This record gives sequence, C-alpha cells and structure tokens, in this order.
Amino acid sequence: MKTNPLDSKLFLAEYWQQKPLVIRGFIQLFNDPIDEHDLAGLAQEEEIDARIVRRFNGQWKVFQGPFETFDDKCKGDWTLLVQGVDKYIDQVKALFELVSFLPAWRTDDVMISYSVKNAGVGAHIDQYDVFIIQGKGKRRWKVGAKGEHAPFSPTENLSLVNDFEPIIDEVLLPGDAIYIPPQFPHSGVTIEDSLNYSIGFRAPSFTELLHEVTDQAIASELAVPRYQDNKSLLNRQHPFHAVTPAEIQELKAYLTSQINSSAFDDVLMRAISQSHLPETDEEDYTLEDLMECVNDAQSLYLSPGVKPIFLTDEDSTLSRFYINCVAFDVASEHQSLVQDLIHDGYLNMNPELEDIICQNEALQSLLLGLLNLGYIYIEDQ
Ligand code: SIN
Ligand code: CO
Repeated sequence: MKTNPLDSKLFLAEYWQQKPLVIRGFIQLFNDPIDEHDLAGLAQEEEIDARIVRRFNGQWKVFQGPFETFDDKCKGDWTLLVQGVDKYIDQVKALFELVSFLPAWRTDDVMISYSVKNAGVGAHIDQYDVFIIQGKGKRRWKVGAKGEHAPFSPTENLSLVNDFEPIIDEVLLPGDAIYIPPQFPHSGVTIEDSLNYSIGFRAPSFTELLHEVTDQAIASELAVPRYQDNKSLLNRQHPFHAVTPAEIQELKAYLTSQINSSAFDDVLMRAISQSHLPETDEEDYTLEDLMECVNDAQSLYLSPGVKPIFLTDEDSTLSRFYINCVAFDVASEHQSLVQDLIHDGYLNMNPELEDIICQNEALQSLLLGLLNLGYIYIEDQ
C-alpha cells in the first residue's frame, strides 16, 4: 500500500472534527483487499454485523444480517454494508496505518460497503468521524454544512435527513478518500459499482463510558474506600428525606477523587481497550507448541482486529498493555520486544530471541496467555 498525501499536522489543526475534506490519492495504486463476493461471505456469518439498504420502486428498506440469501433483497438500488471487517482480514486492518497519526484507542472499526450504480444509503448524519476510502468503482459524494438537519425515518433502522446545499460535491476514484466529521450531512451516490472502506472513529458518549468503566471496575474488583459521611452531619438540620447541596457535592467529590486515583487509570484503560473482538474458541497452546514455534523460527503475529494499547509516560515505557479489557504485565527487560510486537504486528524468531524466550518463564507465560486468548497466532515467516 503506497500512501499518503495527507499533511497530518495541517489536517489535525484545520480539519479533524472541524470540517470535511476530500483527499485525492489517499492510497496510490489501491488494490481492494476484498471483493463483493468475500463481503457477501462475511455477511453470512452469525457474529458479523451486516445490513442491506435498498431503494426499490421508490421505497427504502433495511435488511439486517446475517444473510442466507441475497437475490430477494438485492433489488433496485442496493448497498451491502459490513461492520468490523478489520477484525477478520489483516489487509483491511492495515488501513488503520493511514491514520496512525491519531491514537489507536480512538479508532472504532473498518466498515466496508458494496453499492451498485445509483445506490447509496441516503443523505444522513453520523455521530462519528469517518474516512471513507474509494475502492473499485466511482462514487459521487456530497457533504453539507453542519446545522439543523432534522432526521426522519422512512423505514425501520434508517435515519435520513432532507437534501442539503453541498459544500463538497465531488466524484471519488479508486484510492481517493473523503473525511467527514460528526454532524455533517452527507450522501454518496454510486456512479460505477463501488467498494468503500469507512475507517470510523466513534467517540464514546458520557453514558457509554460510564457503562464501560462500571463493567470494568466490577470485573477488575477495583478496591477503593467507600464513601464516608462528612463531619457536617453533626449540625444537620434538615428533614430526614432531604439531600443537601453540600451532600451532593460530597458525593461528587467522592466520585471524582476515585476517578482521579491511579487505580482508576487501570479501569479506564481496560474500558477503552474494549474492541468487541469476535469470540474465538479457547485455544490450548502448550509450552511445547510455543517452543516449537521458537525452534522452527516461525513468527508470532497479532490477530486481525487486535488493538493493544498501553499507558505511556514521558519515557514511553511499557510495563502493562491492554487488549479487549484484559491487562498484560511486561517485565522491564522485555519492554522493547513487546513494543516491537505491538508496533510491527509480528515478531520474527531469530537465535537471539529464541534464547530470550527459552530462558524466561514470565515471557513464556505472557506469550502463551496471548496465544490462548487468540490475540496472537503462530505462522511460518
Ligand atoms: C456507504 O459506504 O455507503 C455509507 C458510508 C457512510 O455514508 O457513512
Ligand atoms: Co455516513
């Protein structure tokens, strides 16, 4: 993948979460890593979130996957949309490299759509930032200004807005992309049957974050002191059922002091590392399997969709990292090795690495833990 003409500093200063932008030649000589048949195959899988949006005889309709058949649904102007394809196909996950000037923890997924001539999902507003890359085909994108665009629902599970005055109206060719921030109305109409890759960044809402954090605080048995009554109770002269503003303030102070504790950082990291990875069967790799990989000079790869994150300080040391709400500790002497695995997505065995792994039980159990959770896998180099 040859890339990318975007000046990331300028983009972050002028466009990110501010205004839409067409990026010509975002990927040079782009080869689609998937075709419409592969996409249809994914849309048949139970655990994959897929939709078909169609307009047929002037009527909108949305079909929710998984799909056993397509012919009865793919009529008129139709689009097949499949979420989270980065979790299944490495070359699709690799599209995140295009936006690696943004932090991994802010990324959501790569959604791929296949739309036929004249199709589109209608003018709508999204709650997230998105880079939509044009694969094969040709598509005309219009983006309007942020403002009052009352959504309406012409059919179940479809939220559209009325036509808008475009501030962008351009035809994207393979390898081009368009960046659209939240709240900007947009619509893509296909000129030639198209594959589109949407790299999405879904900012958590306050309630979603609270929900995730609560789940993780419970799961990790966050140990913090309970709320304690303030001495002002001594002079309390309020009805039994009254809650005073001071008491509300004390409760809020209690919550914020726990949120500000360093123990809470761990909970927050677990929460934001949630990446809704597909369920995998528990693997049963043994130390012998790991050693065989080491001795046969095979490689260890991060599995598709696995997005490790770590809390960094000024020295960028990595003593703990998180994948999908699970924390992994790293001994100081293995930090650079783990950093390589996280950064490059693989570890090639070599005699030096063999020695390190052979001699170190903590490292062996870290790698076995990752293997058995399906977060890394072994493959020939
Ligand atoms: C699509 O790929 O057809 C829809 C992408 C979007 O507008 O968010
Ligand atoms: Co959209």
